[in-house]
Amino acid sequence: MDNPFIIKPYKSKDLFCDREQELRLMLSNCLNYTDMTLISQRRLGKTGLILRLFDEIKEQHTDISTIYIDILASRTIDDFIKLLAEGAMRAFKPKTSIGDKFMSFIKSLRPQLSFDNITGEPQLQLTYNSVQEKEYTLRGLFEFLDQQGCHIVVAIDEFQQIREYPEDNIEALLRTYIQHTHNLTFIFSGSKKHLMTDIFINEKKPFYSSTTFVSLDKISVSSYSAFIKRLFTQSGKKIDNKAINFILEWTRRHTYYTQQLCHTIFANEESMIDVDAVKKACNQLLSQSEYTFLQYKQMLTPKQWNFMIAIAKEGTVHKATSAEFLSKYKLGTPSTVTRLLDSLKEKGLLNDDVSIKGTSYSLNDVFLSHWLERL
Ligand SMILES: Nc1ncnc2c1ncn2[C@@H]1O[C@H](COP(=O)(O)OP(=O)(O)OP(=O)(O)O)[C@@H](O)[C@H]1O
Ligand SMILES: [Mg+2]
Repeated sequence: MDNPFIIKPYKSKDLFCDREQELRLMLSNCLNYTDMTLISQRRLGKTGLILRLFDEIKEQHTDISTIYIDILASRTIDDFIKLLAEGAMRAFKPKTSIGDKFMSFIKSLRPQLSFDNITGEPQLQLTYNSVQEKEYTLRGLFEFLDQQGCHIVVAIDEFQQIREYPEDNIEALLRTYIQHTHNLTFIFSGSKKHLMTDIFINEKKPFYSSTTFVSLDKISVSSYSAFIKRLFTQSGKKIDNKAINFILEWTRRHTYYTQQLCHTIFANEESMIDVDAVKKACNQLLSQSEYTFLQYKQMLTPKQWNFMIAIAKEGTVHKATSAEFLSKYKLGTPSTVTRLLDSLKEKGLLNDDVSIKGTSYSLNDVFLSHWLERL
């Protein structure tokens, strides 16, 4: 039997836990042509949710088409154009009316077209003679999609990556083209919170206030417990409630880590799962990752590493610059800690949870956190 705890972004509705509320909200935004921004901590399930939404649209709203692109690996606007064009080619297959029109449009750009020899996916190579030609192509792409007389939802994942592009005015350019479309709805998703919020909340920036926000939190205890129980039971395994509670606490209900742990437990092929079986899987995961954890150590200064250990031992730190925390772990002055927080946030190793009571910090990698706790 296939392992039902998937560790890829999305497989099917049946193997996807909850997110009903977010799904309804996003669907309603789509139906109302409301562009949205989806932000959360890393690995909490943004990509999975977008794919789940697209699955729902495919089933329930056949008049809407969907395009998904992940721009994490893009370095320039050329890459962006290429990814968007490839995304459209995946969405509109040849021998459909839009697919054929899109192909003619692409051919007018004199591309080199090849197919990945492993996945069979189309790959485009476009060249431009001038910056104007490039901007013309980008605008042309948005215009083409907009003029097909059908509603298209375009999800751009890891959108903050546009901040890395060396070209000037990218945000203004994209915003202008997007603003002029009528039949497209956009989902901008990303996990670098400070960049994403700066793009959409900073009033000096082109995308300011142009979208509605969808925030993604942890899945509730009740939903995740029922989900875990169902998937084990359906596979003929028994799991007791204590074991489920242990899983959810140890992984802090952080989706990626909860899925990883359940995946490992399932792979161990025990038919009765109790807390001991769960602990065994936890240890397996920590020892498998040890090599990666040691790479982190090499990447960081001794001060940063010690600070990571201090946060790991606390689990969550509510007052990071308090005298008590500083002296307990011999961290130096508040300004040293502020610098450490900034540098580790920048590297994506720390979560900052902002609430009315202040900002609390925890390590993003739950497994690393447990491993450091033991040092
Ligand atoms: N609702 C869910 N039910 C079950 N598994 C989920 C759910 N949401 C996400 N996952 C799993 O959690 C992992 C992380 O999800 P995903 O890649 O969607 O997160 P992300 O927020 O896009 O991460 P990143 O910040 O790295 O882009 C994946 O393995 C995915 O299968
Ligand atoms: Mg993602």
